[in-house]
Amino acid sequence: MSSSHLCTSPHVLGIESSCDDTGVAIVGRNGKILSNCIHSPLKEHLTLGGIIPVIAKEFHLMNIDKVANKAFQESKLQSIASDIDAIAVTTRPGLDFSLKVGLNYAKRLVKKYSKPLIPIHHMQAHALMPLLENRSIKFPFMALLVSGGHCLLSIAKRYNEFELLGESRDDAPGDVLDKIARRLKLRNLGPPFDRISGGAAIELLSRREDADRFKYFASSDGNYPMAQHQDCTFSFSAYRSMFDKFVPVIDTLWARGDRDVLQQELGHVCASLQRVMLIQIAKRLQRAIMYYRMFWKYENEAVFASDGDTSHLGFELRKLVEEDDSCIDVVVSGGVAANKYLVDGIRLACEKGFETNNRVFAPSKALCSDNGLMIAWNGMLKYQDYLDRGDQHYSSNQTNLNCDIHQSVIVDSSQMDLLDRQATCPIGRDISESIRMKSMKLQKLNHPEFKIKR
Ligand code: KG4
Ligand code: ZN
Repeated sequence: MSSSHLCTSPHVLGIESSCDDTGVAIVGRNGKILSNCIHSPLKEHLTLGGIIPVIAKEFHLMNIDKVANKAFQESKLQSIASDIDAIAVTTRPGLDFSLKVGLNYAKRLVKKYSKPLIPIHHMQAHALMPLLENRSIKFPFMALLVSGGHCLLSIAKRYNEFELLGESRDDAPGDVLDKIARRLKLRNLGPPFDRISGGAAIELLSRREDADRFKYFASSDGNYPMAQHQDCTFSFSAYRSMFDKFVPVIDTLWARGDRDVLQQELGHVCASLQRVMLIQIAKRLQRAIMYYRMFWKYENEAVFASDGDTSHLGFELRKLVEEDDSCIDVVVSGGVAANKYLVDGIRLACEKGFETNNRVFAPSKALCSDNGLMIAWNGMLKYQDYLDRGDQHYSSNQTNLNCDIHQSVIVDSSQMDLLDRQATCPIGRDISESIRMKSMKLQKLNHPEFKIKR
């Protein structure tokens, strides 16, 4: 590696293969996007009725080299040997077979070209994605991550340190949307429904339809699942069982073949589902923000006192005493954040529903779902930190037995051999119990959008 080149213009290549999409991207210093290529076998998985891990693996194996070559060509760089400085890859969490393909591919590249390897946490990368497009987001920020595999609330203290406030104890929202979309046979409506995800199909059908038809998704007490738990835990599986009761109604409408009536009723179901999901998510976020405002920021004064931790990466750290120091920026990311209704609803809650007025950021639609760019960008943040702090800091860390190899920039090939994938891995330290113990009661969200009508 030529160190003069490293200092002037680092380029990081990022590889994503944790689920079904194969993504490769290259970013330059400060997140300049040189290329972002993806292969999404969505249509094939839709035909198969969902993502089957061994088949997802085969798609990755078939496509990873093509996607990487395309990303390299589009970047207009001359060669990996001379122009790529480090390779970042998703190592956790995800489907085991899928992660393996990306990690093996990355290991082959770094060994062939003698480059550092940067392991990336998939959920952290989702959380950091909006920072690529908006540098005014301040640390610490609230990260709400909603996807096909996860639903979690976390606080990003620094770009490489997160705390988990709560997560779903059963299904993820994207997974429920996909399953209900399948049960509603939305694919059979024809283009574009046969080639978009279940979540996207539900959003499309919901437009203009009646979200107050809560007969579909109202629980017996008229509340959202787990409302009685004073924490930030989510639960989405109940929507599937509530919906089961109405499957015969929908099946009858399909059998009758009156397209207009069918489409309108499907629209009511979809709009109602989006509404109940929004309410649950907004209420959990309300508690998370309240916890931040009343406890977290006082218990974490050291975070605010440490300057330089993120400033050298070009991001500001929030000051403990600011004009409006009760606010925290909220980032919404992950595949389900492509849902405009959901993000607009969260924005409405953050601006009008809570005690404080918090800014909300979501990635542009195409960058919500899995992509190589979020991995390359997270890799660049780690790599810039590595350059700025120097080899010393990192190599002493790597010889420390307590050090998590997944947090490192790995230059030593024996260390690379030790690096393996992890199908499950929390985004950070779990502080959900501390929220539960505070027994915080929430104010009502005084806006019609957040009222459950039965
Ligand atoms: O983040 P992602 O690409 O993969 C995971 O890591 O899970 O998220 C995929 C999920 C799918 O469940 C898909 O249905 C959902 O994101 N999704 C949406 C929308 N577009 C994709 N959900 C709701 N509304 C959308 N517009
Ligand atoms: Zn994802």
